[in-house]
This record gives sequence, C-alpha cells and structure tokens, in this order.
Amino acid sequence: MKEDKTFNIRTMGCQMNERDSETLAGMLTELGYVHVDDPKKADVAIINTCSVRDNADKRFFGTLGQLKKVKEQRPGFIVCVCGCMMQQQTVIDELKAKYPWVDIVFGTYNIHEFPALLQKVSLEKEKIIDVWDSPGGIIEGLPHERRYSFKAFVNIMYGCNNFCTYCIVPYTRGRERSRRPQDIIAEARRLAADGVKEITLLGQNVNSYDGGECDFAGLLYMLNGVPGIERIRFMTSHPKDLSERLIQAYRDCGKLCHNIHLPVQSGSNAVLRRMNRHYDREKYLGIVRKLRDAVPDITISTDIIVGFPGETERDFQDTLDLVNEVKYDSAFTFLYSKRPGTPAAEYEDQIEESVKHERFGRLVDAVNTHAAEKNAAMIGRRERILVEGPSRHNKETLTGRTDGFKVVDFAGPDTLIGGFCDVEITEGKTFSLKGKLL
Ligand code: 5AD
Ligand code: SF4
Repeated sequence: MKEDKTFNIRTMGCQMNERDSETLAGMLTELGYVHVDDPKKADVAIINTCSVRDNADKRFFGTLGQLKKVKEQRPGFIVCVCGCMMQQQTVIDELKAKYPWVDIVFGTYNIHEFPALLQKVSLEKEKIIDVWDSPGGIIEGLPHERRYSFKAFVNIMYGCNNFCTYCIVPYTRGRERSRRPQDIIAEARRLAADGVKEITLLGQNVNSYDGGECDFAGLLYMLNGVPGIERIRFMTSHPKDLSERLIQAYRDCGKLCHNIHLPVQSGSNAVLRRMNRHYDREKYLGIVRKLRDAVPDITISTDIIVGFPGETERDFQDTLDLVNEVKYDSAFTFLYSKRPGTPAAEYEDQIEESVKHERFGRLVDAVNTHAAEKNAAMIGRRERILVEGPSRHNKETLTGRTDGFKVVDFAGPDTLIGGFCDVEITEGKTFSLKGKLL
C-alpha cells in the first residue's frame, strides 16, 4: 500500500498567522497530505513566521537551522518558509545567502499560490522564491483545516493602515482590505452547519472594518442573527475606532461575548503621541468606563509596550497608574523591540535594556496582582463554559473558557468536549480558574 505524504506546519506569531496556517493545512489536505507532529518526519515542513518582535526572528532562524540536517539526510524533504518575515527584503537576502537549501519561500499575499508552488518544486526540483510586494484581491473559498470542530476563526479584514511607529505589520500585511459582509455571513452559516458554536472575528484592527454599507457594529448585528452560532468574539480592536455603535452592539447582541481585547500600549500621553496611536489616556479611560457601564461584567485585556524610545520613569509611572486604574483581567506585556524600517527604530532616545527589564518586572507584578484579584472575585459564580478538551496542566481534568474568555479547569466526562456546560468557580489563580461541574 502506498503511504500518505505528510506535512508539518510550525506557526509563530498571532492569530492571523494561525488562520493562514489553517489555510495551508486545508490546501495540503486537499492534495492528499496528512499532518504529522514532528517536522523531521514530514515530507513537507512549513515555517509560518512572525516579525513583530526580534525574538520571533531569532527563533525562526534557529528552527530553520534544525531542519538543515534533515534536508542533508533526505534531499526529497521539502522545506517551505512563509509569513510576515518573508515580506522583508533583508530576510530574503539572508535566506539566499545562508539557507539556499530552502525549497519554497512565499509571502503573506500569495498563500493561495502554495499548491502550485509545491507542485512545481516537486516536479522540477527547483527552488522558488515568490514573494509579492503588495496584496492582490481577497481570495474567497480557500479550504481550511481547523484545529477545533466547535470553534473557528473568521477573517473579516486584512492589513492595517495605522502605522503605529513601533510596528512592522503595515509593512508586512499591507493596507486594510475588508471582506464583503455577505461572504462573512455565508462563512458563518457554513461553520454553524458544520457544528461550530463560537466564532472569533479576526483582523489587525477589526473595528475599522469597512464592508461598504456595513460597518463593524453592523456586521456584529448580522452575525448575531446566524442560527447555531452561540458566541461571537473579535480581535484586535483599536481604541481610536471604538464607536458608540459598537458599545450599543454589546447591549443588543446576546451572542457577543462580554470580553474585549483593547490594546493601550502606554498610559503616557507623550508616549502615545510618539507611538502615533491617535488617542490619549483620558479617551482610553473614557472608553473603558462606557464599556463597563454598558456591560458591567465585561472582562478587559490589553497589550502594553515597555521601554518605547524616550519613555521616562514618569511616563512609565503613567502606564502603571493606568493599569492600576483599569485593573485588567489580563495583559500581554512586551519589551519594546526595534523593528528595522519602522520610524521608532530611528529614534535616538532608545532605552537601555536594563531599564526596560526593570520596568517590565514592575509592570508584570502590577498586571498579575490585578489578574489574580479579578479571578479570586469570581469564586462562587456560576459560569457557562465552552469545553475545549483535556486541561494542559492536568490531563485528568477538562478545560474550557467562560464568556469572558477566562480559562477554567474542572473535572468532568470527555463527552462534554465541544459543548457548553455550567460550572461553579471554586478557585481563582493568576492565569486561570478552577471550577466544579454543576
Ligand atoms: N516591540 C514590542 N512590542 C510590539 N508590538 C508590536 N510591535 C512591537 C515592537 N516593535 C506589540 C504591541 C501589539 C502586539 C501584537 O505586539 O503591543 O499590540
Ligand atoms: Fe501594528 Fe498599530 Fe496596526 Fe496594531 S494598529 S497592527 S500595533 S500598526
């Protein structure tokens, strides 16, 4: 019997990349390939890269180096690299110079071409570098191999127009393009028919979605009417585009989860200005207040960058103050990382690594204190959980998420996986909760 050909995809970075990897996996499955966990045992290995911070860059070259030995032992092994890093000429130059054995290099704009590139390489045994420098139209109807049967990502827009001065994304993912509302609704209906209960709408800046007559809030109202979909989430939203209509949608749309990821980046107005964020701390705090007025139990998470060029101790204190005022449920904290080609990389007043790390430590302490307090305050509450599978920490227990996106571990039968159940929260930790099945 002829054995199936196999593939492995290593995904770095954000949910956009994860979604792109689902597309790549979908295309490979259609070609008859089967997924394997170990890239060294695969016929085709793909690394889907991220360039948002420099540690991702470093990890990429490390991972790629590990595949070199496999390639030497097994010349038929096909190595493909794609994703945000490939949209940077310096990376392509480095690949050509030091990694000429890589078979296929493609970018974020031509993922749909992957099957053709793979076929060409398989037949002609030549290396291909095919990176577009700007997006073509949005391609509908690509296959996806989803990780979960009961929850799914749905892209609603691609790219970003904001040019935050620290960020590489507008250069690697191009200008904003929104999918047509009817295509998004049709996808949601198909997913619901397939048993999906929760969708997460994806975009770099979802609330600047522009579907012609339909804005982001309008899209939420429409999706709220799709039978079978029980929960709607989205990420990421930008405070400058957070409209009254969106806040009203939280009141009106029963399926919209009581949770928002609202990156603040800094609590200092001077830093926010130099980051080109188009809001100040007062406006941000006003939005948080309005959201909490509209949805008292809303959970709020954020992204914060420490050590942006020119950040003084005073600026950093403003960030700490803001964190202590908002009391986030959780926060992703990042050390500022210089991204070549972005304006902030050229700023003269870069912050010393030791100062960045010291501030980072204080910020993480504050964030964790609030996260633990918020979670402890949930003890005794009854929560509806979408059960995802066995817990990562303890295979004997199940894990799932509350409407507010908090992880809850609890004991229960495997038959609950993929469905909803009610639990009582019995313990609150910094990053998760424990519960008892009701
Ligand atoms: N340095 C550090 N953090 C960054 N982010 C984006 N670019 C950088 C950078 N150059 C963070 C922002 C963003 C998140 C996805 O990554 O906080 O919201
Ligand atoms: Fe980057 Fe800013 Fe766009 Fe987010 S909004 S992707 S941080 S440029």
